[in-house]
Amino acid sequence: MDYPAPVVRKVFICNNGKCTATETANKLFETLLDMIHECGMDEYDAPTRIKCLISGCLDVCENGPVMVVHPGAVYYQNVDREALQRIFDQHLLNGEVVADLVHHHKNQAAKE
Ligand code: FES
Repeated sequence: MDYPAPVVRKVFICNNGKCTATETANKLFETLLDMIHECGMDEYDAPTRIKCLISGCLDVCENGPVMVVHPGAVYYQNVDREALQRIFDQHLLNGEVVADLVHHHKNQAAKE
C-alpha cells in the first residue's frame, strides 16, 4: 500500500499581538496559504507538502511578524510580503534558509 508523502515543512506564524498586530499576522497567514495552494503544496500527496498554522507567542515578541519554519526551527522576523515571497521561494520550496531574515535569540547571538 502506498502512503502519501509526509509533511516536510511546517510554518507557524505568531498572532499573539505583541510582535506585530494580530491583523497583520493573520493577513500574512492568509497570503502564505494562497501561495502554498497556488503551488499545489497543500495537496495531501504533494512531493513537498507545506503546512501553515497560526500560533501563539513564539518567544520573540519584537520585530514582527515572526514565523518559525520546521524542520530546523528557523525563526524569521520582519516578515512583510516581500520577505514572505523570499522565504517561500528559497526556504519552503528549495530548503535554503534566508539568512538575512533569520531571528537569532539573544542567547544564541551571545554564543556566536
Ligand atoms: S508575541 Fe509574537 S513572538 Fe511573542
